[in-house]
Amino acid sequence: MRRIAFAFFALLAACTSGGGNEKAPPQVAGERRVAPILREAEARDWHSFARPEIARVTHVALDLALDFEAHRIGGEAVLTVEAPAGSTEIILDSKGLEIQAITDAEGRALPHALGQGDAIRGQPLTIRMGAARQIKIRYRSAPNAGALQWLTPQQTAGGRHPYLFSQGQAILNRSWIPTQDSPGIRQTWEARITAPTALTVVMSGERLTPEGEAAGEGRRAFRFRMDNPVPPYAIAIAAGNLTFRPLGPRTGVWTEPEMMERAANELADTERMVTAAEGLYGPYRWGRYDLLVLPPSFPYGGMENPTLTFLTPTFIAGDRSLNGLVAHELAHSWSGNLVTNAAWGDSWLNEGVTSYFENRIMEALYGPARAGQEAALSWDSMQRDMAEIGAGANGTRLHVPVEGQDPDAFGVTIAYDKGALFLRTIERTVGRERFDAYLRDYFDRHAFQPMTSARFLADMREHLIRGDAALEARLGLQNWIYGTGVPANAIRPDPAAFASVDQAVTAFTAGGAAPGGYTGWTTAERIRFLDALPRAQSRERLTALDAALGLSRSGNAEVLFAWLKLALANRFDPAVPAAERFLTTQGRRKFVSPLFQALIAQGDWGRPIATRVYAVARPRYHPLTQTSVDGLMAAARPAAP
Ligand code: BES
Ligand code: ZN
Repeated sequence: MRRIAFAFFALLAACTSGGGNEKAPPQVAGERRVAPILREAEARDWHSFARPEIARVTHVALDLALDFEAHRIGGEAVLTVEAPAGSTEIILDSKGLEIQAITDAEGRALPHALGQGDAIRGQPLTIRMGAARQIKIRYRSAPNAGALQWLTPQQTAGGRHPYLFSQGQAILNRSWIPTQDSPGIRQTWEARITAPTALTVVMSGERLTPEGEAAGEGRRAFRFRMDNPVPPYAIAIAAGNLTFRPLGPRTGVWTEPEMMERAANELADTERMVTAAEGLYGPYRWGRYDLLVLPPSFPYGGMENPTLTFLTPTFIAGDRSLNGLVAHELAHSWSGNLVTNAAWGDSWLNEGVTSYFENRIMEALYGPARAGQEAALSWDSMQRDMAEIGAGANGTRLHVPVEGQDPDAFGVTIAYDKGALFLRTIERTVGRERFDAYLRDYFDRHAFQPMTSARFLADMREHLIRGDAALEARLGLQNWIYGTGVPANAIRPDPAAFASVDQAVTAFTAGGAAPGGYTGWTTAERIRFLDALPRAQSRERLTALDAALGLSRSGNAEVLFAWLKLALANRFDPAVPAAERFLTTQGRRKFVSPLFQALIAQGDWGRPIATRVYAVARPRYHPLTQTSVDGLMAAARPAAP
């Protein structure tokens, strides 16, 4: 049945591409397959103005220059369009783009207009293309493009060269690329990028010019290509004083020379992770798997840009204990980059499936004890989220209504933790072998295609449940995806995972000393301990903890974060210098936002600290982090009399 349904959609796509029958669309070098556009309600992407059923972009060719003085990227984008013969119009997404000229391949001007938009989505760029199926756009990005952060030399490890990086997911790439910025509209791409000779440019695709080519005026050009159709958020760029070191035959790390030793050491297990991932769910289909370790203002932990994961340097703990982040971004090479949520209300299909996959990679490399602890932390985090937003809240569904909301405004961790728990529950119910076989085939069947909750459900029913009504009832698939809260059949974490830590929590809470075994604990155990302590602690108890465990001096960002949350919530002055250092030396939103929130919550004590620290920190943060903290600070400001 699913196959028939799929064939029907493919047929529909082929028919509506009309002109394709008598005259094939221009084949750009390397372009392979064009995924169908899904038409059903769940696949409709409120966050894009594109109307792919009238005309869709299939390939983007960029020829751009990076301008570090003006903080702009400018040049030309040539779009290849697929549209029914009668279609004369195409709608792109744009946020702040300055459009200079739009023509067809022969240079004839095409009428176009930026229409009415909104603060979340930007504006529709409607082009009257007539019969043209190649569109050339001359443009430049705005200096405040949301996808881009331009760093001064002082904001880099080396301190001598400027730096640029992009963050496209979820709906930010429209601020530097004029295309249809919707995850269901997959596109191949190629790029030629020029930058000052001292800088090396990297992108999320195959590198065609390892050393770059002289481009005149003290500039070098770098060329890239991505022949697999990708969701447009997965086009990424960075430029800086970058060096490369191989980690394995198809893995390696890019970073500033000053960071290389520590970064490469932390990433030593990367090649083994790729091998383990392939052992679980089939071939890695992207050629190389490299990582770029960014300056500390990178707003996320990681971003799964194809062939080149972007990573925060805050994952460097010295002992590889935070490299679950690498397993996570790597897993997105299947769940996310290969099979992609068609719209942002189904981000659990990217993040939840990936979090499950991440944990399986961790288990394969480091064994069930570490994986079990990390799964138990995920459970804890989900319970805290449920308590915070309420187990009946809309946001606790896997398939979430997101119309009118900015998918980049906050971190939605329910999709990660509940999504992973859903898959873990299925695994335990049907058996690991059967579920692994299913997932492997799922990635195969839907490779390079968009996915929705309903399609995932239908796929599971056809290929996993196979009409077993009792099994379907036991799993409660529908309720997991569309219902709120944590379903009753959820697999609980192993109570033994943190048994000794939980004893230490009890002992300390009863007035005992700080745990003597702490130095022998894993990072997960330390986090569990700090997060499980009762939130109200006296100055004496916090002093004892910090003195015994050296928490304010921790070089592990996750441990330091857990400590600072507790310390700031108790107005613990001795931890303020550590908080100030942490908030001014990295800009990962997951760390920064909650700590400012913790300060602000402490009213007369914390608000002045937040204001003072933010004045220093704000210019160093990425626009995404700035926007989040701006919101917190504005809400905290006492109302004008
Ligand atoms: N793809 C996400 C980052 C993302 C999600 C950006 C949604 C924009 C919108 C990435 O894979 C991710 O999940 N990063 C996490 C790390 C992970 C180990 C939970 C992060 O940044 O903390
Ligand atoms: Zn992710």
